[in-house]
Amino acid sequence: MTLDQAIAGRRSVRGFLTREVPAATIREVFELAQTAPSNCNIQPWISHVVSGDSLRALGRKMVEAANAGVAPDPDFTADRKFAGAYRERQVDAAVQLYGAMGIERHDRPRRDWAYRRNLEFFGAPHAVFVFMFGEFEEREAVDLGIYAQTLMLAFTSRGIASCAQGALSLYPSIIRDHLGLDASNRILYGISFGYEDVSAPANAARVGRVSLADSVIFHR
Ligand SMILES: Cc1cc2nc3c(=O)[nH]c(=O)nc-3n(C[C@H](O)[C@H](O)[C@H](O)COP(=O)(O)O)c2cc1C
Repeated sequence: MTLDQAIAGRRSVRGFLTREVPAATIREVFELAQTAPSNCNIQPWISHVVSGDSLRALGRKMVEAANAGVAPDPDFTADRKFAGAYRERQVDAAVQLYGAMGIERHDRPRRDWAYRRNLEFFGAPHAVFVFMFGEFEEREAVDLGIYAQTLMLAFTSRGIASCAQGALSLYPSIIRDHLGLDASNRILYGISFGYEDVSAPANAARVGRVSLADSVIFHR
């Protein structure tokens, strides 16, 4: 696969097979992603890769919290309301996803269920939780974003599907307790990964992009 094919072929997958990715392949991807650039080369990402029973147990804890009505308490603001064109893009993505899953716009219980699937990693056998040191803010978050895409492209080129998930940062204390981390580790996002279940309805969703003219301005 060429780099262009990996970039164009990567998409968010929300239904996985239980089959695990070989440990050596996972290591290879994380080794490669270590080459991601960062401001002053500080490499602020702290990644915890969780698999197997430990991942299932962590998922259960987060789902139990959500079902019990525990309010999310993310380390970074996660409740921004989008407006205008951004809101339209958000709604369009939701229409594509819930449409593929056969969930009506006002079917709140099924939409909630679909959202909770985030906390179960959409059935993926692996997830990486990406933290950064407590005092870091936007500038270091840029580095973590570049790192995320580097990971996902390296996965794609090996036939491994993934989904970046802000939703995996909603219950940080549960994750920190589970992994034995202190509060100086603040979580920005998680990425579920594994092999795509092509029969999962959610995976039929395709979201578009705005045209270049709406995003890129060329000057000379
Ligand atoms: C930082 C980040 C956080 C995201 N959080 C979630 C999430 O919590 N749940 C989810 O289903 N998708 C999440 N996504 C996936 C986006 O919805 C997806 O990237 C977008 O709709 C474009 O679709 P594509 O990835 O298939 O191209 C996230 C993506 C990014 C980059």
